[in-house]
Amino acid sequence: MSSASAPGKIILFGEHAVVYGRPALAVPVRQVQATAEVEASSRSGVWIAAPDIGLASELAQLASDQPLAAAVRGVFSALGIAGFPAIQIRISSSIPVASGLGSGAAVSVALIRALSAHLGQPLSDEQVSALTFEIEKLHHGTPSGIDNTVVTYARPVYFVKGQPPETFKVGAPFTIVIGDTGVAASTKAVVSDVRQLWQTAPRRWEDVFDRVGKIARQARAAIESGDLSALGPLMDANQALLQIMSVSSPELERLLSAARAAGAQGAKLSGGGRGGNMIALAAKEKAPAVAEALLSAGAKRTIITQV
Ligand code: PMV
Repeated sequence: MSSASAPGKIILFGEHAVVYGRPALAVPVRQVQATAEVEASSRSGVWIAAPDIGLASELAQLASDQPLAAAVRGVFSALGIAGFPAIQIRISSSIPVASGLGSGAAVSVALIRALSAHLGQPLSDEQVSALTFEIEKLHHGTPSGIDNTVVTYARPVYFVKGQPPETFKVGAPFTIVIGDTGVAASTKAVVSDVRQLWQTAPRRWEDVFDRVGKIARQARAAIESGDLSALGPLMDANQALLQIMSVSSPELERLLSAARAAGAQGAKLSGGGRGGNMIALAAKEKAPAVAEALLSAGAKRTIITQV
């Protein structure tokens, strides 16, 4: 049997503007992960089971744009395999879906790695990321590529669309509290709403995206030099611009206020927005209190993670 796992992720700075070529920072979240197992099977055909989403089917029965089926076919095609082997694939994941934690990318990365390894030709990180990007298009429409990159390399990533991924140093470790609104939001729909705004007044929105890009660059410098006191205000400033883009929501705002009131140094939504997760920067000893405050304010779950 071959198996592979991939972590979840959070975007620290720069979501949405990253779609328009500005830099964004993302880090893996190892407390949640997706796992794929592939083994030879006695029945013919490629069987895929993903109990978390109630899926148990033969590959041939799945539509070509079904993300798991597309990932499997993508691996066969990358490896030049024409006849389908008799295998059973099992997918499981502890990453909540449609919540900005990169569940789609993590499932694809784990599946592509486990399957290519099982077939005796493990794909390189670059190939895994590129193929996952193709699958992300099925989930997201016009993804920037940040999710497949951070999840594949499982390292902090400074990402600019169309450029080779760069990792960045973390000068001093810091603690992030993640709070889940429990509201599922379609990144594809939110990205498309932002595109509509941009189309109506491109100059105005390019200016907003420039401001986000500047914050992301400042945040990278602050993280690299270990100047954590700069990070909280940068998160708040990024959030204010996300609000202007109309991608926040009452549920997110409630959690952001609760985190700040409980002592977080800064907070913002993370990912596509309108639901999903928010993140808050907190001193390590204050993180449990911030997580508690988030739960009292309605968060469905919290994760404390060290960057
Ligand atoms: O919702 P998520 O975590 O998949 O993040 C989407 C991030 C966006 O910048 C909104 C879109 C993208 O493809 O970068």
